[in-house]
Amino acid sequence: MSVLVTGGAGYIGSHTVVELLNSGKEVVIVDNFSNSKPQVLEQIRKITGKDFKFYELDYLNKEELEKVFQENDIEAVMNFAGYKAVGESVQKPIEYYTNNISGALVLLDTMRKYNVKKFIFSSSATVYGDPETIPITEECRTGGTTNPYGTSKLFIEQILKDIYNSDNSWDICILRYFNPVGAHESGLIGEEPQGIPNNLMPYIVRVAAGILKELSVFGNDYPTPDGTGVRDYIHVVDLAIGHIKALEKLEKEKQGLYIYNLGTGTGYSVLDMVKAFEKATNKKVAYKIAPRRPGDIATCYADPTKAKEELGWVATRGIEEMCKDSWNYIQLVSGN
Ligand code: WQD
Repeated sequence: MSVLVTGGAGYIGSHTVVELLNSGKEVVIVDNFSNSKPQVLEQIRKITGKDFKFYELDYLNKEELEKVFQENDIEAVMNFAGYKAVGESVQKPIEYYTNNISGALVLLDTMRKYNVKKFIFSSSATVYGDPETIPITEECRTGGTTNPYGTSKLFIEQILKDIYNSDNSWDICILRYFNPVGAHESGLIGEEPQGIPNNLMPYIVRVAAGILKELSVFGNDYPTPDGTGVRDYIHVVDLAIGHIKALEKLEKEKQGLYIYNLGTGTGYSVLDMVKAFEKATNKKVAYKIAPRRPGDIATCYADPTKAKEELGWVATRGIEEMCKDSWNYIQLVSGN
């Protein structure tokens, strides 16, 4: 029995494949390298000393995807094959909705056809919009997303709820990620955004490495302790382990649809992150205060109690490790 991982060469997918292989699972990866590189597969083999099956294909291609289900004994599917750049999604809504929503539908339809009904979905804290209460529990109202990326996550969550209501032999786990950062401690895999990064941590490491001149801190007049935006940064390896715990839950519980926040429960401001990074790496991060970024909210962090109680999962890697591992990875990539 294998776990099918779509987008397994990507940032969160590759770290999850490592944890799956480490936990003794057989893995089949599907990826079209639209936002990843073939070398990642070799790095996964290096880290784990284990092998897996790989298909280079677009998960929207139903015919090719069906072959994967015919040729393998798939027990569960984890879907990481989504597009994820917030700004780009505003420019390319058709591409985002097609890839994220139509892709998920092709995948779910194929799963149904081959009677594979365990599904773990990469959702996002973005489904909470401007959160009604902080820390955010899974019961908080969802909606009010401000870009097609976020809306695609919200829609897919609804689709999954409707599928489960129509047939409760499905076993579905929706994981709402907060802000994933960091890299595998080996430095062999990590996040490699194309072009100038939009997210904070990839930007900070590039300023520290001298690739970018200075960080623009988007707003210092938010109602937060130092005026800059507060987020729940979570180490990607902790996030990956969350998927293993979710799979264990689906394997041992009776069928259901489960939703969990994957965050640390601690919020850090942009300036906290700059300071933590400088302390952890001994590198200077030049920054200037810039206007607020449209669509940003002041504060967002999780109440991760439900995942702790029901999955036995807690994030254990702190801010220092997140910064060190992000730095370690960029140095290897940029050859600094
Ligand atoms: C964090 C904080 C910025 C860059 C987004 C998506 C979310 C998820 C993760 C992705 C904010 C500030 C940032 C910079 C800055 N999905 N910032 N200067 O916006 O919380 O979440 O990424 O795949 O769905 O919405 O993350 O890292 O962009 O920003 O001051 O150059 O850093 O204003 O307060 P965000 P982020």
